This record gives sequence, C-alpha cells and structure tokens, in this order.
Amino acid sequence: MAVAETSQENAIFEGKPLSMEYEEEITNLISQMTLEEKAGMLHGTSMFATSGVPRLGIPELTMADGPLGIREEISRDSWAPAGWDNDFATYLPAGAGLSATWNPQLAYTFGDVIGAEARDRNKDVLLAPAFNIIRTPLGGRTYEYFSEDPFLNIQITVPYIVGVQENDVAVSVKHYAANNQETNRGTVDVQMDERTLREIYLPAFEAAIKDAHAYTVMGAYNKFRGDYLNENEYMLQDVLRDEWGFKGIVISDWAAIHSTVKALKAGADVEMGTPGPFNEFYFADPLIAAVKSGELSEEEVDKHVRRVLRLMYNIKSIDTTGRAKGSRNTEQHLKDAYNIASESVVLLKNDKNMLPLNLEGVKSIAVIGDNATKKNALGGFGAGVKTKLEVTPLEGLKNRLPESVKITHAPGYLERYSKTDKAKFGDITLDGPVTINELDPKLLEEAVNAAKNSDVAIIFAGSNRDYETEASDRASLDLPFGQEELIAKVMETNPNTIVVMIAGAPFDIENIEQQTSTLVWSWFNGSEGGNALADVLLGKVNPSGKLPWTMPKDLKDSPAHANNSFPGDEVATYDEGILVGYRWFDTQNIEPLYPFGYGLSYTDFEFSNAKADKNEAYKADETIQVSVDVKNTGEFDGKEVVQLYVSKSDSKVERAAQELKGFKKEMIAQGETKTVTIAVPVKELAYYDMNSGKWTVEPGTYTLKLGNSSRNLQQEVVVEIQ
Ligand code: BGC
Repeated sequence: MAVAETSQENAIFEGKPLSMEYEEEITNLISQMTLEEKAGMLHGTSMFATSGVPRLGIPELTMADGPLGIREEISRDSWAPAGWDNDFATYLPAGAGLSATWNPQLAYTFGDVIGAEARDRNKDVLLAPAFNIIRTPLGGRTYEYFSEDPFLNIQITVPYIVGVQENDVAVSVKHYAANNQETNRGTVDVQMDERTLREIYLPAFEAAIKDAHAYTVMGAYNKFRGDYLNENEYMLQDVLRDEWGFKGIVISDWAAIHSTVKALKAGADVEMGTPGPFNEFYFADPLIAAVKSGELSEEEVDKHVRRVLRLMYNIKSIDTTGRAKGSRNTEQHLKDAYNIASESVVLLKNDKNMLPLNLEGVKSIAVIGDNATKKNALGGFGAGVKTKLEVTPLEGLKNRLPESVKITHAPGYLERYSKTDKAKFGDITLDGPVTINELDPKLLEEAVNAAKNSDVAIIFAGSNRDYETEASDRASLDLPFGQEELIAKVMETNPNTIVVMIAGAPFDIENIEQQTSTLVWSWFNGSEGGNALADVLLGKVNPSGKLPWTMPKDLKDSPAHANNSFPGDEVATYDEGILVGYRWFDTQNIEPLYPFGYGLSYTDFEFSNAKADKNEAYKADETIQVSVDVKNTGEFDGKEVVQLYVSKSDSKVERAAQELKGFKKEMIAQGETKTVTIAVPVKELAYYDMNSGKWTVEPGTYTLKLGNSSRNLQQEVVVEIQ
C-alpha cells in the first residue's frame, strides 16, 4: 500500500502518477493508425467500451460502473443486462455509508476491493468514485456521494482512488464538476463565484488529481458558467490540466457530449453514451468528417488518442505483463464489506440505554417495517450490483439472535406508488412515481399486534434505492409510505421500541425523534449490511459512525432552500456561496436536528488537555500539531472520531463560523486515556482570494476546537499565525 508516513500519527495516501515512459511507443503506434481507427478509440462503440485496434495489439478500453460494486454486465448495444451468469460482485456500502465511517483506511480497503473486482471482471476503468458535494438534502444521488464537507470528502476520496488504481484499474472521478442536483442535470447552467468553486466544489477533485493521481475524470452533464462541462475549456484545460497537471483522459458522462470540435478542443477525450448508432456519436463519423473538411486537425485527434494509449500502458492493458489479476466475491471481500458497514452505523439517540439490546428476559422481538426485508443492491435508475449475497436486517437478526428469542416479522408499511413509471431524466420524484402514504389497515393491525405481543419492537424504516435515485431529486424530506403513522402507533403500543432508519439522505424525522428514546441510522450498506446492523444492535459492535452531512429540522433551514436557489431553472445560482451544509447552519445559528459529525457510542468519551505543539506564532509552511486527551469513561471499548474545526473570528473576509480541518478515528479501551494528535498544516487555514486568484493565509489568531461532533466541541486551542 502506498502510504507515506508524514509523521508517526498521520498516514497520507498517495497514488502513483501516470508514467510518461511510453511516449515513444505511443508515437509509433499512432503513426500506424488510420483516422477511422483513431476515432474508434475516442468514442463508445458499445455501451461500456471504445474500440481497440487489434492489428496493432491495442485492446478495447472497457468500463464498468462502480459506486456500490461492479455493475452487472450490460449489453453491448442497449441498457439491458447482458444476461451473464458469472457477473456477480460484492455489494459494498453506498458512498454515504462509507463516508459515515470517517475512516480513510476503510476507504482504501473499499477501493482495493472494488478495484480487484473490476480487474477480475476484466475492466480497465471503474466509473467511480462519485463524490459531488451534497448541496441539498433532496439530491437524488446523496446516498451515492460522500459529504457536504470538502475536507471529509478528500479524506475518503483519495484513499479510495489509491486502492482502486493499485489493481491496474483506472478510476473515473465523477462528476466533474458542480453536478449537485439531478433536476435538469442535462441542461442546467451552474453559476457560482470562484471562491465557492475552489473552497467547496473542487477540493476533492483537486486532491483526486494531485494526490491520488486519478487516471480518468468523468465530465458531467451540466453546464458551468455557460458551457457544458465537456466543452468547458476553463474546467478541462485551465484548471484540470494546466493547474493540476492532469495527464489522463476525460471521459464524458453518458450522452453528455454536445459537439465535436468544441468538445475536443476544450479537452474532452472520450465520448460515451446511450445506445447507438455509435457511429453517429460526435466523436465518431462527425469527427472524421471534421478532419476531412479541415475544421479539426489530425494533430488534435492524435493528442486525445495519445492520452488514451498512455492510460492503457499505465494500467498494463496493452502489454499485460505483470498486470494485477483481481479477485471477486471472496470471503475477504465480504469481511471488508462487513467492516465498512459496521463502522458506518450512526447511533442518533439512546436515552433509555435500550441499546445495546440486553437479551436478558427478552423472549420475543417484533421486527417491523418494509425495510426489514428490503434489498438495495439494485433499484432505482442507474448502477447497482448483481450480488450473490445481501443480508437484510431481518436476516441479520435471525443470524445473530439466539433461537430462544421468537422473532415476529410484520412489514406494517410497504413501498407503494400510484404511478409506477419511473421518474424521467431531470424530474423531481413527485412528477414521477407518486407514493401512496396511506397504510394498509390490515398490515398496520398486524404490526401493532406483533409489537404488543413482543418484549421489544424494532422498526426498520427509511427509504430505499427506488425512492432515492439517480436522475431525479426528491420533492420533500417527508418519509413516504405512511411510515410516520406506523411508527407512532407501534410506539404507543410498546414503549420498548427501537427505530432504525435505513436511508442514504436526510429525512424529516423530527416527530419520530421526539417520540422515540432509541434511534439508529443505517445506510444502503452492502452485502453484509444486515449482519453489521444486528451486531451493532446487540452490542458486538460499538457504533462509531458519524453523520457526513447535516440533518435539518426543516428543508427551509438548508442553505440552498433558504436562499431559494434550488433547483433553479435554466440557471442554478449557488447563492449560499461557501456556506454549504453545516457552514450555513453554524454561521446562521440554525439548530439542526442532528449536526454534521454527530454520532453516539455505547460508551462515553471525555476530552481534556487540548494543546498545540508551540506557543510562538506558526509560519505559513509549518504544521500545527494539536493534541487532546480522550478518555473512555463508559462501560465499553469503543472507537471515537476526534474532530477538529477551525474558526477565525476577526477575518477580513467572509468565513464560515467553523470548518472541519482534521479528524482522527481511534480505538480507545474502556477506562483508557489516549492522547490523539491531529496535524493541521497552516496552509489548510487559507481561503481562496478572488482578487489575487491565490490561496491566502490570513495572519492572526485562529481558534481550533476539538470534540466529537460539529456541535460538541468542548476543547479549544488558540494559535497565532504569522
Ligand atoms: C451516470 C454516471 C454513470 C453513467 C454510466 C450516467 O447516467 O450519471 O454516473 O457512470 O450513467 O452508467
């Protein structure tokens, strides 16, 4: 594993840059290629591959979607599954679950597993990770993305990429960029100021290129400042290549190319898309015609072909000597999926200490809710995983509970729609399927009876991968399918009720939060999700997940909605600027339902003795080492995420009240005190100065606050910067 130790305490993940040692071979190959062969390498000639040039030993470039695991094989000329029986893959926790672990090491593991599985399926490019910033809680792909915070985003994205690419598979980091909504994603023109772009929306992409050395970038559907991303010279040439030094290829999102000459000249390299005729793609016959008419030079074409060949040499797909072989559906991959899932579960409330569930005297448990048995590997619009194993919450409990405990399962509510047609591209879900929110009286009665006749009731509620889906945003934060009523009735019947939400994005759960003593949040959590969840409920695993985004009380409290700038129409102006997510809530003093970084444990942690390693002022090129003692004062061993936020109160520019600038997850045994050190390079304190176009560290006083959620920061260190 490529881990450079910068200090004893902080491992930094670094990828391998694309090697330029093959340029001569590449020149030689290009000199032997016809224009038609070159064009074939620059566009999809089937759904997930470009053409190779067999006579020159150049293979196809093969791709597969990846966010949740390697997607099943898709037909060459349509979106229909190819119908293979050997394309199963491990289903890994969706992005929001991975980021909720706040564990970069697990992000590396995730990348390593999915990279090995991609290789085993003979894929060259994994169309992942997807890490657009969560700008609105309604976003259809919130479940797939990582966070509302650029720092956490980087810490998960970089190791993920390093893990994948060590398997001789390229990532395609997506969706570059400012693709933060599904509504009108194919047409919307995103407008924001440069500082917001640099501080919020680009950092994880920049780190993906500069630190992780991502080999490919996926150009998004939307426009940015008037130009489609795949025709956007500023984003593809000036920023990506000139500033960040990107040497790989830009692959368009599927059908996100709108021109030939403009797109190629701006920096798009490979056009992918939806079913053919593939020769009609902009980078196919029209490209050949443009060269013939003199509108496009062959040198320009060669430049893009060179990049593709460079990538192929680097992932060893031309000369396959020593190429990683990969592996798939292994026991180890399931264990890794389990480990990620078990660190992702967030304990939101445990007022009566009902959790971990004490089985003494418990003879019966009612397991209620559609989500007790719902599978999420597939569903909705977009990429899923055909997996051999998906343990549901009910199965997890059955696997883990002693036989002496009687389980009664009653769904209580069901996922039901009055219109079954799927949401169309860019629709808000409301315009697509309409949810039926009345409960079926018989199902309700059955669930209430099950709860009445059991010692404990566990309700598995939330959403699923049909309701949260690519290509549409949700219309509201309401819990669909009558769940709130069901939960209220079950809780009335049996006060020993635990509510477990399974979802990838925030929902309005304020009423539920007020009624219940015990609330857990889990995710679309992979093959082992049900086992991991059962282990958390039963105390084999002490929960250590933290929310990667803010759970608002009200949609209107969220910045994009408070400003009325979502979803926009033709243009989406990001009026909240840099105040995305908790930056907005904290700066405006708005109380969220659950804050960013929040998550309880079965034990308690006490923070004390925070200090910096120096009393004198720090210089711009120095690193502040902040240490804090963390004592596990409770009854269980447990992991805690020590979080560090920075405030600058007397700044001469607008600032968020606080920003995450460091964190570390540590295992601390019961009774143990650990000194946790977090490194904050002074350059991390910079803001992007729009006048100079430079990152600028303001001299003066900064407050570094430490704790275990963005709203529980009891320790402070004040430092001076020169
Ligand atoms: C999605 C991409 C995906 C591509 C290919 C598009 O609709 O936006 O994330 O990689 O389809 O499936």
